[in-house]
Amino acid sequence: MNIVFDAIIDSFNETKVGIGADFLNTSLASLLKENLVKLYHENQMIPAGTGNFDLVSHDVKVRSDKIHWLDRKHNNESENDFFDLMDEFVAYLNSTCYTGITGYEFHYSLYETGSFYKKHLDQFRSDSSRVFSMIMYLNVDWEQKDGGALCIHHESHLQHILPNNGKSVFFRSNELVHEVLTTNKPRMSITGWLKSDAASIR
Ligand code: OGA
Ligand code: MN
Repeated sequence: MNIVFDAIIDSFNETKVGIGADFLNTSLASLLKENLVKLYHENQMIPAGTGNFDLVSHDVKVRSDKIHWLDRKHNNESENDFFDLMDEFVAYLNSTCYTGITGYEFHYSLYETGSFYKKHLDQFRSDSSRVFSMIMYLNVDWEQKDGGALCIHHESHLQHILPNNGKSVFFRSNELVHEVLTTNKPRMSITGWLKSDAASIR
């Protein structure tokens, strides 16, 4: 039993959108944010594309965030602590929900003031390996007036989620259309996908 993991899994089962208020503890969230800010100052946050492989295009009318992929090879302590946490979460998810997740990928995201990501689905048309989308926010003291909400388009209603520090959001990558509304101040997060080998050959 894990209270933090259960909160996100229970809300996912009830509403299709899992929300864990303190998925990242304050210390890990602040160290990961320091990494992101450092990467930004080193010009290592690069414009995100849309689509996969040769189909990647950089259409700033669709999305205007900047990203940098996390990797255990960076030998960065907090990045590795993050991967340890994700390994724990994936093992818990697979054992309690039989999800068959076999891998993941995560990037830092920075939405500078005025940035957004228009309505989209996270699963690529040519590759169904992304099973779950997961976003962790790194923004202390975020308020409604700061904009930048994640807006999920359910069949019958819209759900707005503020990108508050440490919060994690979790949903099926092929199911929910969503968008990031224009942010009024820099908005930071780690975004990623839990993947299944099996899904890509289905
Ligand atoms: C994405 C995305 C949502 C968010 O990167 O695909 O939808 O809240 N991000 O940052
Ligand atoms: Mn998305």
